[in-house]
Amino acid sequence: LDSFDFSLREGPTETHLKIAAEKLLNSDIPVAFPTETVYGLGAIATKSSAVQGIFKVKGRPVDNPLIVHVCSVQQLRQLLQPTSSQARLDATLDPIPNVYKSLIEKFWPGPLTILLPCPENSELAPEVHPGLKTFSVRIPDDPLALALIQLSGPIAAPSANASTRPSTTTAQHVKDDLEGKIEIILDGGTCAVGLESTVVDGLSNPPCILRPGGISLQQIRQCEGWEGVIAGYDCQSTTIPKAPGMKYRHYSPRASVILYEAGSSGPILEDARKVGVIRTMKWESQIGGDAGPIKDSLIPIPIRSPKGTHWEVWLGDDLESIARGLFAALRHLDDQGVDAIHVEGIPETDDLAATIMNRLRKAAIQICT
Ligand code: TXA
Ligand code: MG
Repeated sequence: LDSFDFSLREGPTETHLKIAAEKLLNSDIPVAFPTETVYGLGAIATKSSAVQGIFKVKGRPVDNPLIVHVCSVQQLRQLLQPTSSQARLDATLDPIPNVYKSLIEKFWPGPLTILLPCPENSELAPEVHPGLKTFSVRIPDDPLALALIQLSGPIAAPSANASTRPSTTTAQHVKDDLEGKIEIILDGGTCAVGLESTVVDGLSNPPCILRPGGISLQQIRQCEGWEGVIAGYDCQSTTIPKAPGMKYRHYSPRASVILYEAGSSGPILEDARKVGVIRTMKWESQIGGDAGPIKDSLIPIPIRSPKGTHWEVWLGDDLESIARGLFAALRHLDDQGVDAIHVEGIPETDDLAATIMNRLRKAAIQICT
């Protein structure tokens, strides 16, 4: 906590953090906390009963492994070599495989998750990596998350949404999904990235990306030992995905998402009632309507036209703001009670754009080309 000045920020105080850490250590009820990607639903990574609590609260399939969050590389080494003396930890026998050194140096803390062999005599709860010989870990780039982990020890956490729903990027979204099932949400404001971390496997040859996310393939490729990294999630669907979570229905609001690939003609709203529209780079505002220009807002704006009133959100036209607002826009349109959400896809000019489209394709029930 030494590096964390509570007087400089709004939101949870040191007392709140201590209560949250107590809850983690002394109960099996998970605690929601902010990270730079999305909110996490945490439990002590070495405590089976608590980790089981995560699966219960989320309604998550038990074969879907969790990411362990640590606050420092030192804490990770301790987790990998629990019985080692400090001297051994500092010596040449580093339990972290060499292949990850360049990535860790460049991207931690940050939205990158690495796969590691489960240590022998592992203290990790088996539920963290069900049936797997590997587990995944990252250092999140959020001061509240780091302070909490420093108090409680390593935290296993999936995204803090009900299973199949869009990930949560504000404390309110977590409350909407999990109220009554958890007792504490640490409110760290809106997540800066808005998409989950990139999951990489450096134990396979060639190394591969299991889930695209906040760090791009191009960025990873620039690191020593990662020049030949491949996109494992593109592997054809007949094989079992190496990141088990990639096979499930995902990121879905209650409304049906209809995705329009970049360059396709947009929707024709026959009957605009109960319809949401998410615009990004090209679509004109007020399809068929006559309202004034829409401000850059994630709050849906009603657009009146002869065909009825539909709701519109504009995510902005740069990739960072589209990534940051995407899940929130899906949730906020759901809150308006729409039946269908038409989403303007974007050209996959780079990896962040491709990651955004990866999430949208998973959310969509129909894709128009
Ligand atoms: O940004 C994030 O990664 C957020 C924040 C909270 O850290 N967490 C997150 O967790 O998105 P979750 O559980 O929603 O997604 C974790 C993904 C899943 O696709 C899971 O299958 C994969 O990582 N994964 C975790 N451990 C794995 C392992 N040992 N082998 C293969 N895939 C693994
Ligand atoms: Mg998730």
